[in-house]
Amino acid sequence: MSDDVAIRVRGLRKAYGDNVAVADLDLDVRRGEVFALLGPNGAGKTTTVEILEGYRHRDAGEVKVLGTDPDPAFGSRRRGSQAHSSRFPGDPTPEWRGRVGIVLQGTGEFDELTVAEVVHHFAGFYPGADDPDKVIERVGLAAKARARTHTLSGGQKRRLDVALGIIGRPELLFLDEPTTGFDPEARREFWELIRDLSAAGTTIVLTTHYLDEAEALADRVGVIAGGRLVEVAAPDRLGNRQEALATVSWRTPEGRVESAESGTPTALVTELAARFGGEVPGLTVTRPTLEDIYLSMIGHR
Ligand SMILES: Nc1ncnc2c1ncn2[C@@H]1O[C@H](COP(=O)(O)OP(=O)(O)OP(=O)(O)O)[C@@H](O)[C@H]1O
Ligand SMILES: [Mg+2]
Repeated sequence: MSDDVAIRVRGLRKAYGDNVAVADLDLDVRRGEVFALLGPNGAGKTTTVEILEGYRHRDAGEVKVLGTDPDPAFGSRRRGSQAHSSRFPGDPTPEWRGRVGIVLQGTGEFDELTVAEVVHHFAGFYPGADDPDKVIERVGLAAKARARTHTLSGGQKRRLDVALGIIGRPELLFLDEPTTGFDPEARREFWELIRDLSAAGTTIVLTTHYLDEAEALADRVGVIAGGRLVEVAAPDRLGNRQEALATVSWRTPEGRVESAESGTPTALVTELAARFGGEVPGLTVTRPTLEDIYLSMIGHR
C-alpha cells in the first residue's frame, strides 16, 4: 500500500442474515483528503464506516486502514467458524487506535460527569492528546464545560462526541453524521473546525445527509446506495454535473419560456439578447444542483 493511501477497500461485503448491507464495495481514500459518504437511510454507510473503524466484522473483502487491517482476526475467523457480527471485535493494536479518531452515529452517554471531566478523561487515553480545554473551546462547549453531560441539548451532546473524536489528535478521523441536530451556526462552526483539521493534515471521512455539507467540505464524495458505491467524484464533477445540460428561461408577455435543455446555453443567451435588443427579461440559466444529481443517482436504482 503506497504512502498516499489512507484507506483501501476491495470487495467489502457484509450481510445481517439475509439482508446484504454492503455488497462488493471498493473504496480508496487518500491521505489528507476530506471524503464524504452520501447515501439514503439504510444504504450501508454506518456499516462500512464501522468496519473501517474496527467496530464491526466483515464477511468478505480486503480492508486496510493506515496500513492495518482493522479486524486482524478476520482471516483466521473466516477459515474457522461462521462470521458473526458482534461489536468491538478487538483492537488491531493500541498504537493504531491512537492514530484513528471516531465519532459514532449514536451519541455517547456519560450521565453525571461534566463535559470537562469527560474530555480530560479521554485525553488520558492518548499519549499525544490535545489540550482538553482548547478542544472544548474549539467545539463551542466552553460555556458548558462544567455542565453535567446529561443536561446538554442534542446538538451540544453531538459537539461533545466531536470533541472526543479529535482529542487524541488523530491522523484519520471518522465522523458518522456529525452535524445531525446542529443548528445552522453550529454547523458552520463545525465546518471551520473540519477545514482547520484538514489544513493541519488530518484525513477525514464523514457521512452526511446534507448535500451542502458534502459540497462545502469534501474533496471527493462517494455516493452509496443499496450497499454499493455508485459513484466517487469531486462534488462539482458528480454525475458529470459541469457538463449537465442547462435550462435557459426568460419572460415574455405571454408568460415564462423555458428552453429545452441546452448544451450551448451561451449561444442561446446571445441569440436572445439580440432578439430583445439588450436585456433579456427575467433571464435565468440553471444547471442541476448537487441535490438533483444525487436524487437521480439514488432514484435510478
Ligand atoms: N446491527 C445490525 N443488525 C442488523 N441489521 C443491521 C444492523 N446495522 C445495520 N443493519 C442493516 O443494514 C443496512 C445498512 O444499515 P446502515 O446502518 O449501514 O445504513 P446507513 O447508510 O448508515 O443509514 P442511515 O443513513 O440511516 O444512518 C440496513 O438495512 C440496516 O437495517
Ligand atoms: Mg448510519
